[in-house]
This record gives sequence, C-alpha cells and structure tokens, in this order.
Amino acid sequence: MRPLIVIGNWKMHGSLASNQDWLKSVARGMQSGMPAGRKFAICPPFAYLAQCGSLIKEHAIAFLSLGAQDVSSQGSGAYTGEVSAAMLKELGCQYVIVGHSERRQLHHEVDEVVAAKALQVLDSGMTPVICVGETADERNSGRAEEIVCAQVAKQVSVLQDRLADCLIAYEPVWAIGTGKVASAQVAQDMHRAIRLRLAEFDEDVASHVGILYGGSVKPDNAVELFAMPDIDGGLVGGASLNPQDFLAICQA
Ligand code: PGA
Repeated sequence: MRPLIVIGNWKMHGSLASNQDWLKSVARGMQSGMPAGRKFAICPPFAYLAQCGSLIKEHAIAFLSLGAQDVSSQGSGAYTGEVSAAMLKELGCQYVIVGHSERRQLHHEVDEVVAAKALQVLDSGMTPVICVGETADERNSGRAEEIVCAQVAKQVSVLQDRLADCLIAYEPVWAIGTGKVASAQVAQDMHRAIRLRLAEFDEDVASHVGILYGGSVKPDNAVELFAMPDIDGGLVGGASLNPQDFLAICQA
C-alpha cells in the first residue's frame, strides 16, 4: 500500500517573519492529529531551510518533513551558486524536487540533468521528487502521453531499479499556477500511463513508486484527485503558501 504524500512547493516565496507564522499555524493545525498512513513535507527556498528545519523541531511537528526545490547535479566543487545534495541532507531535508517545469523551461534543464540530480539525491539518502509533464501545445496536439512517458523512460534508463526509491510528480505545465486543474480523470489516466510505462521496466518498481499530481491543487479539488487509484498525493504550489489551505489539502 502506497502512502498518500502531500508536498508543499513554496517556490520563491516566504520571509523569516511569514515562515514563522506559517509554521506556527500548521503546528497548531496538526496538533490534534493527522490522518494515518500519510506523509507531509514543505520545500521552502534554500535560504530558509535551516530556519524552517529548526521551527519544525521547536514546534515538534512530527508529521512534517523538510524538502528542497532543487539541487546541483554535481557532488561538490567550483559551481558558484549551486547547493549540493550532501548540504541539503545536513540541513535535514528528506525530499528534493528535481526537474520542475520552471527549472526545465527557465534554466534549460534536460532529462539527463534531471536524472543526474536524482542520483545525487539518492546517493545522499534522500527521496527525489522527479517532475514530468506536458505543455498545453503538446496536449492539444494529442501528444501528452507520448511526451510524459518519454520523460519517464529517460529516468528509467539512468536510474533503473533505484526508481523504486523515488517519487514522480505529474505536473501538466498548463495547470501550474494557472488555476486550470487537470480533471481527476485526466490526471488518473496519465498516472496510469506512467505506471504502465514503469511496469514495462519492472512491475515491482511500478507498484511501489508514488506518483503525485501537481498543478493548481486546492482544498476543493484535492479530495477527488486523491481518491483516484493511481494518484498518491499532491505537489502543491500556490495553495501551500496558505497554512489553512495546506492543512485542508493534507486532510483531504
Ligand atoms: P501550483 O504549482 O499548485 O501553484 O499550480 C504546483 C507546482 O508548480 O509544483
């Protein structure tokens, strides 16, 4: 049985003061207990990982883990501006998002780089959250499944059975930050296609890998999405910035 996982991706938002308020609210909300068999994490910007890590400890939010939004594809060295997987591990991260569409589009990250990042994350004992997804044009031209499965296949070819220790996030680019959520059935169909693609490699890996949906997840659509058999949780951007919305999605 795969656990339901909700991960908040704060992107480039937050401040020392607002993070404090956010964690205080979520600590209060999680105090009375959370549904069993679920996992929750937040991915603040690098600059706030240490602060958020100590606030999670201070408020003893046992239910909440820490994650990062990106990582270097290199282990260490002369890479100005980069942050290594070992550094993230040291800061208490358990998850690292790799290959988010904003990284792919704005920073020209290709599948090979995404896989190299995932390997760094795995080697440091954390869980990569590998993002895949098609653009509006790709969907409109009927190529959504082909594009997404090709992205998955690239990861399979590099990561092989280490994929069993990864999460995949299906994030249709047209649904990210747009308020246009994929219908639960459209999302389920793609999650199924991803799992079938993984099963071509290894059925055991396919049945173990958690596949999260991302793209305009909100409290009012999370219930329907999470009820789908191949949707194992959500990667939540905008709505995760509001502690009450994040809590509502975690409980959906
Ligand atoms: P969104 O972002 O929930 O704001 O659409 C999701 C993401 O980019 O991970």
